[in-house]
Formats: sequence, C-alpha cells, structure tokens
Amino acid sequence: MPFSRIVGTGSALPPRLVSNHDLAAELATRQIETSDDWIVERTGIRQRYIADRGVKTSALATDAARLALADAQVDASEVDLIIVATSTPDFVFPSTACLVQANLGNKGAAAFDVQAVCSGFVYALTTADSFIRAGRARCAVVIGAEVFSSILDWNDRGTCVLFGDGAGAVVLRASDSPGILAAQLHADGSQMNILAAAGNVAYGQVTGDPFLRMDGQAVFKQAVTVLDRSARSVTKEAGLTLADVDWLIPHQANLRILTFLARKLDVPLEKVVVTVDRHANTSAASVPLALDTARRDGRIQPGQLILMQGVGGGFTWGSVLARM
Ligand SMILES: CC(C)(COP(=O)(O)OP(=O)(O)OC[C@H]1O[C@@H](n2cnc3c(N)ncnc32)[C@H](O)[C@@H]1OP(=O)(O)O)[C@@H](O)C(=O)NCCC(=O)NCCS
Repeated sequence: MPFSRIVGTGSALPPRLVSNHDLAAELATRQIETSDDWIVERTGIRQRYIADRGVKTSALATDAARLALADAQVDASEVDLIIVATSTPDFVFPSTACLVQANLGNKGAAAFDVQAVCSGFVYALTTADSFIRAGRARCAVVIGAEVFSSILDWNDRGTCVLFGDGAGAVVLRASDSPGILAAQLHADGSQMNILAAAGNVAYGQVTGDPFLRMDGQAVFKQAVTVLDRSARSVTKEAGLTLADVDWLIPHQANLRILTFLARKLDVPLEKVVVTVDRHANTSAASVPLALDTARRDGRIQPGQLILMQGVGGGFTWGSVLARM
C-alpha cells in the first residue's frame, strides 16, 4: 500500500488588510463599540484580510492551488483528485472543487468539496490520504479556502472581529515512504448549536439565519479539550510521543486556545506555529495557511514531524501527523 506525502504548499490572501484599529473605527460608525486592546487581549488577533464583495472562494482557492503546484513542480494535468474544504462555497452547486479544476485547466480528476467548517482541511487531507493509500488516486490537490466575511454579522461584535478570509493548499503525492503517519477524525453532532450558520437556500429565498452564530465560551472549552485528546491519541497511534513533534499547527482560532493547548500538552509555545495574530480565524484555510507560512519562512524543514489539528462547527475535530 503506498503512502502519501506533502510535496508542495501554497497560500493566498485577499489584498485588503484590516487592522483591529480599522475595524473598531468602522464599527464605531454604527455605534458598535470594540477596541484593539479588547481584541488582542481576548484573542491575540491584530489584523485580518477581508475579500472585497464579489470575490469568490474559488478564486482564492485557485491562487493557493497554483502556488502549491508550482512549489511541488507538478503540472495540473497530473492531478487526479481535487478536494476543497470550505463552508463558504461559491454556489450550492457545482462544488468549489469543480470550479478550481476548471480554473487550473485540469480535466478528469475527481473533484468535490468537504464541509467540516474549521476542521475542513484536516478532514480533506485525511480523505485524500485515504484515496492515495487505497490506490484510488496518485496526486491530489487539497485546499482549505474561505470568504468567511460573507457569512459574518457585521453588527455582532462577539463574532465579526474574530474571522478573516484566505486559502491554503497542499499537493499530496503517492510515495514509497511516509508522509502522513496517522490521522484521526471525529464529530459530535449533538453540539451543532454552539457554532453554526443555520441558513439555507430554499424555495427561492434564504431560509433560517444566514449568519454565523457562536457560543464563544462553550466553543473555547470544547476546543481545548478535544485538541488535547486528539493530539495525544494520534501521536500514540503512530508509535510516537508529543516530544517527537517538531511543529504543532493547530487551527488558528484564538491565541488563548493555542496557549492553553500548548500548556496542557507540555509543548513549548516556540514549537507552535501561530498566524492567528496576522490572519485571524480563516476557518478551513487556517491550517494550510499556517503550514505554508512556516514552510516559506524556513521554520518547517524537510524531514520534520508536524502535527496539524482542526476543530470547529459540527462540532468537528481531527488531527493529521505528517513527516515533511
Ligand atoms: C469569543 C471570545 C473571544 C469572547 O471572550 P469571552 O472572554 O468569552 O467574552 P464574553 O463573550 O464573556 O464577553 C465578555 C464581554 O465582552 C463583550 N464583548 C464581546 N465582544 C466584544 C468586542 N469585540 N469588543 C468589546 N467587547 C466585546 C461582551 O459583550 C461582554 O460584555 P458584558 O460583560 O458587558 O456582557 C471567547 O469566548 C473565545 O475566543 N471563544 C472561542 C471562539 C472561537 O475560537 N471560535 C471559533 C472556533 S473554530
């Protein structure tokens, strides 16, 4: 049975940078009070990138995929599987993955979306790894991409300050050596209400609530608990320990969550890739964006062991342990 290996990464951000100060000033025009101090203290977020209206998830996803393919020196025609993790697809259908496929000029690859909110990339990567290990694909592009700003209630200061837009991608190839060493996915649908965008297009209109709603404290507690458990379990499955991990790349939701997690796992914070300060929470894009950032700035080196973790709406969570 072949293994799968990450052979290239790429990422894309929309050009409009919105600092906490910019956002506070914009919200103040609508009598909504927030501040850089509040946002930094509670979340560690200092800025986010926001797509202009009309910019679609498929555009960011395509940019990230092109960069990952170039990094891997793989031609789009070699790709036989495209998976996009997103909660903000361009359309109800076709899938965003099919739109990316058309943009890349690839024909014939299997292409579909995965919906697991902020765990989406980890779900998509595990799915692609399973395809490759089963011999059903040899070269996959796996993307996490979001225009999350399009589902935020910009009058709700409890959520709108937390998120940003972006995309990250990896090229995953069949390989004789690992690669991905272990992966675990989980969900608990009974917790669907703590983080949801419970709207739907039906009968010619949006039914339900078109905006993201969240019980922040419940999400915080759940996130720390399940990420801790999942990190221990996936490293154990691979016959390794957390001390073997060179870089922990958890979903970038909140610096306090990352700090709590590192402390619980007894992993020094210097080994945790942190981009939430710059990107805010970009949902399914956050892990591949962080991975690409840390590869390109030289922190992640070939041969190192990385632990990627997702957590989010559903409630969903999961971990992928990989040798670079
Ligand atoms: C959202 C979060 C930052 C809120 O922090 P918190 O310490 O739980 O704050 P609370 O929700 O209890 O609110 C505390 C106060 O701050 C206020 N507040 C909320 N958002 C604010 C903002 N942007 N600016 C200023 N004040 C704000 C609240 O109204 C509340 O005021 P009150 O005490 O007068 O009622 C925190 O719960 C969190 O990070 N949760 C996890 C969220 C997350 O990561 N979600 C995505 C996971 S995939």
